[in-house]
Order: sequence, then C-alpha cells, then structure tokens
Amino acid sequence: MLFDLTGLNALVCGASQGIGRATAETFAKQGARVVLLARNAEALEKARAALPSPEKHMCVTADVSRSDELDAALEKISSQLGSIDILVNNAGGPTAGTLLDAEANSFELALRTHILAQLHLCKKLTPSMKHKNFGRIINIISTSVRMPIPNLGVSNTIRAAVAGFAKTMSNELAPCGITVNNVLPGYTETERLAALAHAAAARNSSTADSVRENWLKQVPMNRFAQPEEVAAALAFLASREAAYITGVSLQVDGGRIGAI
Ligand SMILES: NC(=O)c1ccc[n+]([C@@H]2O[C@H](COP(=O)([O-])OP(=O)(O)OC[C@H]3O[C@@H](n4cnc5c(N)ncnc54)[C@H](OP(=O)(O)O)[C@@H]3O)[C@@H](O)[C@H]2O)c1
Repeated sequence: MLFDLTGLNALVCGASQGIGRATAETFAKQGARVVLLARNAEALEKARAALPSPEKHMCVTADVSRSDELDAALEKISSQLGSIDILVNNAGGPTAGTLLDAEANSFELALRTHILAQLHLCKKLTPSMKHKNFGRIINIISTSVRMPIPNLGVSNTIRAAVAGFAKTMSNELAPCGITVNNVLPGYTETERLAALAHAAAARNSSTADSVRENWLKQVPMNRFAQPEEVAAALAFLASREAAYITGVSLQVDGGRIGAI
C-alpha cells in the first residue's frame, strides 16, 4: 500500500470537524495511531468513535492559542502514547473582515493560534523526531498565501507569516530527516465554508447560495473540494514516500489559483 502510515503516531490539531477531522480519518485508515486535538471534548470523542479501531486513537482537549493547555495535552500524549512522528498544525481561520476594520487583538489571537502554537509544538515534538531521524510537520493554511482573499485581512496577513515560518523551519530541520510542508486548501465543504458564505451574504444583503455560486465561478473544476480530498494531500506529505519533499506549499484548489 502506498502512503502506509503504520507504526507512526500523528497529532492532528483541529480534528473535531472539517479538514482536520477528515485528516484524522485518512491517517487512521492508512494505519497511523492518531491523537485528535481541539477544544470541544464531545465533538472530538464523536470523531474518534468514527475512526477504524477507535480504541487505538486518543483525544486531547486544548486551545492551541494557550501554551499551558498545549503543555497539559502534550504531557497526556507522552504518558499514554509516546512520541509523535507526524504533526498537523491546524485550527479555525481568523475572523473575516477588511484589514482596516481589524482590531489589534484579532492579530494577537491569530499570532498565538497560528504561529506561537506551531513554534511551541515544534520545540516540544522535534527532539524525539530528531532522535528517530524521521518527522513530518504539515501546516494547513490557505491559498491566500498565493493570492490574498478579499475580506480576510487578518487571515491573509497571518497565513503569509505561517508560510515564511514553515519555509524557515523546513531549512532548519531538513538535515534531521524532518520535512515541513504546507497544504493550501481552496474552497472546501466544511462548517467554516458554510459560515463564511452566510457572513458574506449578510454583508451584501444576498443569500448564501448566491455567494457560493459566485465562488464556484472562480474554480475551473466547477465544484468545491471535499475535506477528504485535502486530507489525501496530507496523507501523501505525511508518508515515508514523501521523504524528499520539504518546504513546499501544495495547493488543493481545483485549479483556482492562476499563477504557474
Ligand atoms: N474550508 C475551506 O474552504 C478552507 C479554505 C482555505 C483554508 N481553510 C483553512 O483550513 C483550516 C481548517 O479549515 P476547516 O474548514 O476545516 O475549519 P473548521 O471547520 O472551522 O474546523 C476547525 C477545527 O479547528 C478546531 N479549532 C479551532 N480553533 C481552535 C483552537 N484555538 N484550538 C484548538 N482547536 C481549534 C475546531 O474545533 P474546536 O472549535 O472544538 O476547537 C475544528 O476542529 C482553517 O485554518 C481554515 O481557515 C479552509
């Protein structure tokens, strides 16, 4: 089987719904033992129960923007499961809105959630990866890294910072058998997409359906991604076969981004 993850432990952040949940499912199907992390314990347990051999996997609750909660989660993982081989950095996207309307505290929260959390997790998890000379770090970001998306001012700014962070980290960790890559989802059918469509409709006195129709016009494949299609890209980058791929940002967007 290609992309066999048997024998690998994966920590998937933001795993209670959407792309993170689909990633946890795909990794579990490929043989990994998965730790599902998010803030809502009940939703996490539901997601874990739906995995193949659910007893093999575990849930930890933490708000990634809080280092004390991350430390408690890592302690639990270390005592119950051991070291992590695959880290998926993921959380909800920052609040929508224009840059000029953004408040400083939105940037501070986005920085803690998307940069400082990653730094904290990398500091704690890479020593054992270095020891094994194997590790995979994958960040779920957005196509806004390539092309800013209107009305996502904070997100556009922080995603670019994550891309710079990841490229730097990939160079630092490359000699240690650890790869660092980004997946850039395009429009993907998740709760977040539905919420963004409703927010845009409310702003423009339109309907969520017409917002979605306009978005679809930007996608050459004329459909949105299913979360599992994004998760498949993560499974590839997490695999042993992807050992020589590091520092890349992989679009999974149905051809939406025009740049070559
Ligand atoms: N869907 C799309 O079309 C699309 C397109 C481009 C980029 N993206 C990006 O891809 C990522 C995943 O998107 P999605 O659509 O799957 O999002 P989603 O449906 O909103 O799911 C987000 C997940 O992250 C968890 N989460 C949120 N904040 C957290 C925090 N502070 N600490 C820990 N867990 C947290 C949520 O669970 P809890 O609330 O229980 O914590 C949930 O499991 C986001 O960054 C999003 O912006 C999505």
